[in-house]
Amino acid sequence: MFYTSIRTLTLACLFSSVIGIATQEKRDDGNSGIPTVDDVKNPVCKPWIAIRDAIMGDIYHGRCNDNTRAAIRLAFHDAGTFSLSREAAGQDNGGADGSLLVDPNEVLRDENNGMQTIVSLLKPLPEKFNVSAGDVLHLAGTLGVLACPGGPVVKTFVGRGPVKNVNPTNLIPDTHDTIPNIVNRFNDMGISVREAMALIGSHTCARQRFVDPAFANDTFDTTPDIWDIRFYSETKRNDSDPGVFRLPSDLGFAHNSLTQKDYNRFVGSLSTQENWAREYADAHEKLSLLGQDADTLTDCTEIMPEAIHLRDITVTHSGGAVDPAVDPEKLAAALQATRSIWLS
Ligand code: HEM
Ligand SMILES: *[C@@H]1O[C@H](CO)[C@@H](O)[C@H](O)[C@H]1NC(C)=O
Ligand SMILES: *[C@@H]1O[C@H](CO)[C@@H](O)[C@H](O)[C@H]1NC(C)=O
Ligand SMILES: *[C@@H]1O[C@H](CO)[C@@H](O)[C@H](O)[C@H]1NC(C)=O
Repeated sequence: MFYTSIRTLTLACLFSSVIGIATQEKRDDGNSGIPTVDDVKNPVCKPWIAIRDAIMGDIYHGRCNDNTRAAIRLAFHDAGTFSLSREAAGQDNGGADGSLLVDPNEVLRDENNGMQTIVSLLKPLPEKFNVSAGDVLHLAGTLGVLACPGGPVVKTFVGRGPVKNVNPTNLIPDTHDTIPNIVNRFNDMGISVREAMALIGSHTCARQRFVDPAFANDTFDTTPDIWDIRFYSETKRNDSDPGVFRLPSDLGFAHNSLTQKDYNRFVGSLSTQENWAREYADAHEKLSLLGQDADTLTDCTEIMPEAIHLRDITVTHSGGAVDPAVDPEKLAAALQATRSIWLS
């Protein structure tokens, strides 16, 4: 590290003034990067500013933490029970409808263990704001991604109706299942291998407690509060870092012939990060709409705060074939510039 304190200060000032200029043109409310009710154009979306703040402020405190991890996983477990084959057979088929917030028993299933706290925190919001559980649950998911620095803006829709049905059982992939079975299950959701390999990167900001309780709270990469591509390279190498755990399914994705080509697309440098962030955002959007008719929903992405781009908070912009490292001072400046009203 060659940074003297003066040089760091200069960089930090330069950085915040660049952020300031970039956002000043768009908004003049002093909270750059955070749209207000007045900024929002679509009247349907205006009430969602308060719901956004209830989640991003009261539950996430503007940061990547255990509640954001749980909310991202919750979005997957709510939507990931969607099944094209069950739909074709006229059976209940889950989907992104918020049933996990409403049915008292779903969250008690083994596969949903660890999500009780986030469910109890989100549960009051649909009634409080007179909106659907599905909309609240999936907004919590897309805000959770954004709360983790490096996480992209995922297009966010509102207007889902009431819960369709309790999620059918045995549809969430298990980490000990075979890669072909897991791939088939994603296909039956309508999710391709390429999309699944982008989605699995959310394990960049994740922990395990129940696969091996002896290693409770272990993470899946060395930077669990940063939305970066380290998960892919570290898992592929099977690094042994203290406090980091490898899920059998993630190791499988890195090496199985069905998945490794798409997996490998996300092993790399800063430019790879941007590709991944974009593909992740598209795949997560699709996940959040499984079983819903997108034409009847309203795109309220305009309520979302700006993304913190990894390229703006890393120590180097060189983009070599290594995982980028985050500069803590740049990260702190970016949080102040784009998350200030929620930080506590
Ligand atoms: C093959 C598919 C997947 C399998 C087998 C799988 C498995 C797991 C397991 C076993 C855990 C640890 C749970 C615990 O012991 O506490 C976990 C955590 C997590 N998963 Fe996945 N996962 C898959 C796909 C996904 C997808 C598609 C997403 C989101 C887009 C996701 C997001 C997360 C997150 C954010 C956590 C951390 C939860 C927390 O820390 O509270 N996973 N996953
Ligand atoms: C709640 O929203 C529905 C429409 O989604 C509306 O018909 C109803 O009047 C609202 N209830 C209250 C108390 O505002
Ligand atoms: C895991 O984290 C939770 C929440 O921070 C904590 O209560 C628990 O004691 C931790 N467990 C272990 C084994 O460190
Ligand atoms: C990963 O490393 C562990 C030891 O750290 C080893 O037991 C395991 O077999 C390895 N798995 C793969 C797929 O390389």
